[in-house]
Amino acid sequence: MNVTHLECAACGLHHEARRLLNLCLQCGKPLLVRYDLKAAAISLTKDSLKSRGCDLWRYREVLPVENDENVVSLGEGFTPLLHAGRLGAKLGLRQLYLKDEGQNPTQSFKARGMTAAVSMAKELGARKLAVPSAGNAAGALAAYAARAGLEAHIFMPKDTPRANVIECEQTGAHVTLMDGLITDCGAEVARRKEAEGWFDVSTLKEPYRIEGKKTMGYELAEQFDWQLPDVIIYPTGGGTGLIGMWKAFDEMEQMGWIGSKRPRMVTVQAAGCAPIVRAFEAGKRFADEFPNAHTTASGLRVPRAIGDFLILDALRASGGAAIAVTDEELLEATREIGAAEGIFCAPEGAACLPALKKLIADGAVKPDERVVLFNTGSGVKYVESFSS
Ligand SMILES: Cc1ncc(COP(=O)(O)O)c(C=O)c1O
Ligand SMILES: [Zn+2]
Repeated sequence: MNVTHLECAACGLHHEARRLLNLCLQCGKPLLVRYDLKAAAISLTKDSLKSRGCDLWRYREVLPVENDENVVSLGEGFTPLLHAGRLGAKLGLRQLYLKDEGQNPTQSFKARGMTAAVSMAKELGARKLAVPSAGNAAGALAAYAARAGLEAHIFMPKDTPRANVIECEQTGAHVTLMDGLITDCGAEVARRKEAEGWFDVSTLKEPYRIEGKKTMGYELAEQFDWQLPDVIIYPTGGGTGLIGMWKAFDEMEQMGWIGSKRPRMVTVQAAGCAPIVRAFEAGKRFADEFPNAHTTASGLRVPRAIGDFLILDALRASGGAAIAVTDEELLEATREIGAAEGIFCAPEGAACLPALKKLIADGAVKPDERVVLFNTGSGVKYVESFSS
């Protein structure tokens, strides 16, 4: 076990690692897991990876669980990084890639976060887990909680895709549908959790979902033979995956695996809910709550994110961008990617394509650059989005 402590991402205060914690006890911002990376790098070497299992636990030394018996797994991670030759040719890009996170258990990248969070909750003694969700995090929590023998209490907006509601019910979760947005669901969890004895696994309000999600950064490096791409385009709600990959790059540099060069990180949001894009454009470090949030890409309907400053810091430090696309654009992109590459994307993932087109039109992405689009989930859960 190489975890040394938890560190507040805002004020830097250290917290003890072997305790169930949510936010910083001093300032209420997210906690990040810190490791003894020198110790990790002794057994976790590029060579050692060649003989390890094809899931995200292959990066075991930089994941937080102490006892292997507590790892709750459904085979998540190590998803395909696919060269998108036909789509790239249409756009004039030779090196366009799709990271297909729809092939994870429960059909989205949320499985990565939940395998880590549920494993740690189990290890540290939680019995009842609660989460507000736009849909995919709920499905993932329900599945991993079931696998761990823990209770899952899930709060989703009423208009969450039906498939997400059904999958939670069928994997044994307690489901509550609410009028309002994910932020209202989060408030309900916060209001009830103490009396109910729930541990809150809201994204970035516990330290471990980001640890699971950071493995997307490790995988990209490994799958590209330790050369990071030039540009990463990523559909951003709470931003945990983007923040996680950014953390992974630093960890890999500290272990001597990569240099200091970073990909340009690009956030994509829906025009109907684009708090990070607004803050990026206004030069702000914190994002205002986005009023009247609406988009068919339910995972992007996140009007306020507790990790806003971490997303914005990474975008700026990387020389990246934040781009809003309309629902019409992202739905059309689903069909375009599907027809060109055979991948039925979640609308959130498809949103990366119109964002890329804007970057190309602005000259911000060049034909010889290596670009990765993150398809964060599978389109099969979004039947309502595609039936008019
Ligand atoms: C398919 C999909 N993509 C992207 C997102 C946004 O993810 P994050 O909140 O980690 O930024 C979500 C969140 O629910 C999602 O379900
Ligand atoms: Zn703090």
